[in-house]
Amino acid sequence: MFRTHTRGELRISDVNKVVTLSGWVQRSRKMGGMTFVDLRDRYGITQLVFNEAVNVELCDAANKLGREFVIQVKGEVRERSNKNANLSTGDIELNVTELNVLNSAATPPFTIEDNTDGGDDIRMKYRYLDLRRNTVRLNLELRHKMTIEVRSYLDKLGFLEIETPILIGSTPEGARDFVVPSRMNPGQFYALPQSPQLFKQLLMVSGFDRYFQIAKCFRDEDLRADRQPEFTQIDCEMSFVEQEDVISTFEGMAKHLFKTIRGLEITDAFPRMTWQEAMRLYGSDKPDIRFGMTFVELMGILKGKGFSVFDNATYIGGICAEGAASYTRKQLDSLTEYVKRSQIGAKGLVYARVEADGNVKSSVDKFYTQETLQELKAAFNAKSGDLILILSGDNVMKTRKQLCELRLEMGNQLGLRDKKTFACLWVIDFPLFEWDEESGRFMAMHHPFTSPKLEDVPLLDTNPGEVRANAYDMVINGVEVGGGSIRIHDSALQNKMFKLLGFTEARAQEQFGFLMNAFKFGAPPHGGLAYGLDRWVSLFAGLDSIRDCIAFPKNNSGRDVMADAPSALEQSQLDELNLIVEIKE
Ligand code: AMO
Repeated sequence: MFRTHTRGELRISDVNKVVTLSGWVQRSRKMGGMTFVDLRDRYGITQLVFNEAVNVELCDAANKLGREFVIQVKGEVRERSNKNANLSTGDIELNVTELNVLNSAATPPFTIEDNTDGGDDIRMKYRYLDLRRNTVRLNLELRHKMTIEVRSYLDKLGFLEIETPILIGSTPEGARDFVVPSRMNPGQFYALPQSPQLFKQLLMVSGFDRYFQIAKCFRDEDLRADRQPEFTQIDCEMSFVEQEDVISTFEGMAKHLFKTIRGLEITDAFPRMTWQEAMRLYGSDKPDIRFGMTFVELMGILKGKGFSVFDNATYIGGICAEGAASYTRKQLDSLTEYVKRSQIGAKGLVYARVEADGNVKSSVDKFYTQETLQELKAAFNAKSGDLILILSGDNVMKTRKQLCELRLEMGNQLGLRDKKTFACLWVIDFPLFEWDEESGRFMAMHHPFTSPKLEDVPLLDTNPGEVRANAYDMVINGVEVGGGSIRIHDSALQNKMFKLLGFTEARAQEQFGFLMNAFKFGAPPHGGLAYGLDRWVSLFAGLDSIRDCIAFPKNNSGRDVMADAPSALEQSQLDELNLIVEIKE
């Protein structure tokens, strides 16, 4: 037997027991005639003691153990004289009588400790070693617990877990597809699913009225902290439901996760905000409502007073940072630099301080009277000591986005985005379409299967841009953790939708013919939602990036640096696939 106990298991009540342990050498220290070795496995650490006075040979062998050697030891559990309160096994140690080296180990390229000396790149290259560290391991344990809770919650509600294919046809869902060439069908490609969307809708046609899947999804899009090319959805679909049914089922799941995983009992309903309101007040469809600092539109107060930047603007908006009037010139300059960064793209930043005497001092004082500045102060309900920050621009959406970035940055700087606080929110009433400047046509904001609000259907013919969708997102702390919609289940309406999205009949038939056909055979009203599992786990674990809750993630260039993927194919593979590779500049 390799082990009678695991590393986190032995306690003071086990003293005098003879046990066998196996694990990795975390570190060893020689102190006089004694050698202490920390033996680690995924359950914890146990201190091993080798005493030269008792067994010289054994102690010599212990002194030769290197970091990460895999060993098996036998010995008696003893009470420790200097206890370690930081370890669950800190009251005991193992007085070793037998040592068996199961495997030696090369010196690891970084220390396997919580605060490792290894940089990002090296840890990704040796991810299997990185995964030995507590911090990363705990994230995977959390992930496991969350999937168990998800399955348990949905199973109790009668949801069936059904797998859908990974090799599918290409369907446009906003991002680019990853494609796979088919050897048996020369010149043809599968796509990897961006989500199981079409298949889950087909399952509804089949009568599986409550489906779920913890599904791998693939999207060839630019990576960010909360995006991986390969990620996992908790994907669900329900028949005979309206928006309210889906929202309450998944708000229930969210509350179940908060309770079972974080020990937080949330009894109130999650707040809801329309997309319009979210954009107006926060400049984002995923507002972080842990803090206020909502936007105030200032066109009425600041336009037309001789300051040309504002006079030429189509949007002027600001936020008020409580107590930030103490910001120094240097801090304000660096905020200005922040909003001017290419990713944000604002041209400049105007600020106004509310001074101790109530007067307002701004960076554009020469254009505005104190009376106007007092109006500005009143618009924010600002007090002495507050700082008003203002952006303007000629594109309302763009300027709001810039102001959104500024608001989030101020939230960070003022410590208002505490990771242990959770603010959940449903964003509802998304527009059905968004106008795409590049292609000069409407695109589906969610996906082409999302239904319009019944009362907005007539607008499809007259003013598609104004049509609201039965679509909803759940947002926590400014992160979109999930989204879904009530689907179109009527093939005539679906056809109309494809037409509005610029699909020719032939192309719609080619790409979605099977769905349209299925809808002819009795499609029930249905809708659903998908949560992003990686985002949920990283929120609960307080991570900055979802990468840290994925065992083997990709780096920012979409590479697996450990396995060195993607990589070129052998000529023989290309031949078999009938592919010729030509790399364009
Ligand atoms: P959507 O595209 O909104 O909807 O995706 C659902 C959720 O998946 C997560 N997510 C991601 N997580 C990590 N990396 C990514 N690249 C990534 N992309 C998305 C987000 C998001 O809210 N089929 C629809 C769902 C439906 O209508 O039922 C869909 O995929 O948390």
